[in-house]
Order: sequence, then C-alpha cells, then structure tokens
Amino acid sequence: MPTESREIIITLIAGTSTLLLLGALMISFLFLYRNRHRKLLREREQLRLSYERELLKSQLEIQEQTFKHISLEIHDNIGQMLSLAKLNLSTMDPSQPTSLEQKISDSKKLVGQAIYDLRNLSHGLSTDYIADMGLTRAIEHELEMIRKSGDYDTVLDSDGKAYPLDKQRELIVYRIIQETLNNIIKHSASQKIIIHLQYSPEEFTLTITDNGKGFDLTPLNHDTSYGLGIKNMYNRAKLMGAGFQISSTLGEGTSVVLSVPVENANTRT
Ligand SMILES: Nc1ncnc2c1ncn2[C@@H]1O[C@H](COP(=O)(O)OP(=O)(O)OP(=O)(O)O)[C@@H](O)[C@H]1O
Ligand SMILES: [Mg+2]
Repeated sequence: MPTESREIIITLIAGTSTLLLLGALMISFLFLYRNRHRKLLREREQLRLSYERELLKSQLEIQEQTFKHISLEIHDNIGQMLSLAKLNLSTMDPSQPTSLEQKISDSKKLVGQAIYDLRNLSHGLSTDYIADMGLTRAIEHELEMIRKSGDYDTVLDSDGKAYPLDKQRELIVYRIIQETLNNIIKHSASQKIIIHLQYSPEEFTLTITDNGKGFDLTPLNHDTSYGLGIKNMYNRAKLMGAGFQISSTLGEGTSVVLSVPVENANTRT
C-alpha cells in the first residue's frame, strides 16, 4: 500500500477513535450528571417529607399536651369551682339573710370565674390557636398554666419589634418551647423560668432559662438511653434551618437557645 494511503487510513482511524472517545466521554458525563441530579432531587424530596412528618408530629404532640392541660384544668380548677358553687347553693338558708347574700355573691363569683376559664380553655381547642393568638400570647398562656401550679416564678420578655414567623415554623418553635418547659418541670427542680424573645432583622432568637439543678450534657451525643425530647428538638430545628443549643451547669441551671433565620420566615403561608 502506498505510504500516502496508509497515512490517510491512520488519520481516519485516529479521528474516528477520538470522536468515539469524545462521544463516550459525553455520554458518561451526561449519565453522571443525570444520576447526580436525580440523587439531589431524591434527597430534597426526602428532606421535604421529613419536614412535613415532623410538622405533623409536632401538631399531634401539641394537641396531646392541650388535651392533658384541658383535662387537668377541668378536673382541678373548673370542676372545683362549680362544686363549690353547688355547695353554696345547696346550703343556702333563707332564714339567714346575711349569710344568704354572701353565698349568692360567692356563687356568682365562682360561676363567673368558671365561665372565664372555660372561655380561655376553648381558645386552646381551636386547631390554629397559635396562629390565631400569635406566638407571644400562646407562650403567655402556657406560662400561666405553669404558674397556676404555684411552684414556679415565670418571666416572659422580648427585645425588638415582634414579627410573625411563618405558620409552620411557629408551630415547631411552639412545640420546642413546650418540650423545654416539660423538661424543666420534669427534671430541673427549678423555681424560676425565664423566656426571652429577641426579634432582630436577621434572626428570631428564643432563650429559655431555668435556675434548677442542671445536667451533664456529654452523654447526650452518645447515649441512646436518653429520652427522645432533646433529639427531636435538635432534629426539628435542623429541618427548619435553625440553630439549637443547650448549655447547662450543674447546680446553676440550663439554657436552651433556638435561633431561626428570618430570610423567608416573616411571610405567613
Ligand atoms: N432543664 C433540665 N434540667 C435538668 N435536666 C434536664 C433538663 N432538660 C433535660 N434534662 C436531662 O436531659 C435528659 C434528656 O431529656 P429528654 O427531653 O431528651 O428526655 P426525657 O425528658 O427524659 O424523656 P422524653 O422527653 O422522651 O419524655 C433528661 O432525662 C434529664 O436528665
Ligand atoms: Mg423531655
């Protein structure tokens, strides 16, 4: 074969091989890109599903806590007031006008208070009560119920102009507050609870502090025997893109800080 033709054949083979190689590279690149894209979409979808699952769970836990409050309130408070009013009414003696007047006045007060408390309770039954009341009033309501036990001194204060978070985040924030308060009641032996709300333009920060016995945080990272409460709080804060920290000193107390970035947070959905 003449050298010229051989060179043409070699060039053709080299060209074709380069083109084939390039084609193969492009196909593998596209394949990799598509796989990565699919993985990303899958991860995003999983994140969305976890967020929705946690939202739903938070909602159910809030309802469960509300039912507990309501049954306690009916039994310990409203029930007692009505029983006392009934006792007053059944021991009225028309032959003793002074005591009769006093009993009527006491009964009126008791029934009035029972109606007021029932009205407050029914607010808590509305499915959207956090959105209806606003976070601050919902927290006040929660603290009021704790104060009623007589064992705690509570403070709620705030800095900055209050703004609403979106409904979903408010629900999770509220659930985190409830769990932290439950922990204080269950474990801290504290007498004081301070809740501070900081509304700054970039971030909403919630700090809950108690002056109880405190606890050792080191096992929290390893020990699975701990309850689900703190784990859930961490997880839920993470899912809504918030920071969550606990600090505790033995003998001095515990602080829980939740920081919610505000970029998309101040538009109600
Ligand atoms: N404010 C607090 N003061 C003292 N100890 C606390 C406080 N909060 C939490 N702890 C300790 O941390 C542990 C873990 O709390 P976590 O909420 O995860 O679980 P739990 O309250 O024991 O159970 P669960 O929340 O599942 O009902 C508690 O058992 C308690 O020992
Ligand atoms: Mg707990």
